[in-house]
Amino acid sequence: MIQFDNVSKQYGDGTKAVDSINLHIKEGEFFVIIGPSGSGKTTVLKMINRLIPLTAGTISINGKRISDYDIHELRWDIGYVLQQIALFPHMTIGENIAIVPELKNWEQGKIKERIDELLEMVGLEPDIYRSRKPHELSGGQQQRVGVTRALAANPPIILMDEPFSALDPISREKLQEDLIHLQKKIKKTIVFVTHDMKEAIKLGDRICVMKDGEIVQIGTPEELLANPENEFVRQFVGEEHGLSIKGFSLQDLILPISETEQYVAVIPASASLEETLSLLAAHDELAVEEGGNIIGMVNRQAVIRELAGSMQKEVRS
Ligand SMILES: Nc1ncnc2c1ncn2[C@@H]1O[C@H](COP(=O)(O)OP(=O)(O)O)[C@@H](O)[C@H]1O
Ligand SMILES: [Mg+2]
Repeated sequence: MIQFDNVSKQYGDGTKAVDSINLHIKEGEFFVIIGPSGSGKTTVLKMINRLIPLTAGTISINGKRISDYDIHELRWDIGYVLQQIALFPHMTIGENIAIVPELKNWEQGKIKERIDELLEMVGLEPDIYRSRKPHELSGGQQQRVGVTRALAANPPIILMDEPFSALDPISREKLQEDLIHLQKKIKKTIVFVTHDMKEAIKLGDRICVMKDGEIVQIGTPEELLANPENEFVRQFVGEEHGLSIKGFSLQDLILPISETEQYVAVIPASASLEETLSLLAAHDELAVEEGGNIIGMVNRQAVIRELAGSMQKEVRS
């Protein structure tokens, strides 16, 4: 769906922000770009909707170069959510959400319906919030409106640049959960930038690790955890971020198994986190064996949930 071919960006002052990167983001995928500050994440994102022009290479969306799209069509068909809450302060919540539908000349009745539908979708009672001003909402609520505004005209692609990093940990977690549920429903192609590995693992179908304008590794959360490409990725996903779980036990994650199910992969109940993750990189579900018997199954979601949960405990403690 979104294809980068040898894309580079050099700023006017000579800074090489992005250095000949290649990547393919699939339709409906939740694609996370992660890396330290200055690694080129925002530049990559802003090149997609032409907020930043490329120096070399090509980016295509659905096989058509972005330079061949009408700029308005491109911007309106790509939702964009920023870190700093960027609602217009003098406009109501409803008016903020309606910006792109208005630009696209939707009928007023359809716009009104859409505002209420979106507010409901993110748990903000339309009758209460539609006519409030942004400053009458909490930071978390404002950012929730920021997300609905990006979704308003139903764009197939949404770009999110560290959208939750300015929020307190509780709101951040809540919005991450909401986004996971939302994505199950709306199935957009989401390109999500973060510098927080916990967030990347929780949200991403695949994660792209960047350093100094280059891509170091692209893989599923399991692949990155089980087989980091080099020391940089290992450190980034590893101990530094509290990802190696001491006392990891498959026993805690076992789900009941149905007799008719067939499992191609079997793992001993005593397996380590690394062993579990490397098998889960290849199989969605594993049968858990103990003393020659299959005692249950584990799946990717259960392990990821456990990882995310244990990381949150570490953060809070
Ligand atoms: N407008 C600009 N002019 C010059 N250098 C820039 C500009 N914007 C970003 N950079 C530089 O490009 C590199 C990548 O920046 P950026 O894409 O914002 O990284 P990230 O989002 O990963 O923090 C950094 O070295 C940054 O200082
Ligand atoms: Mg950035």
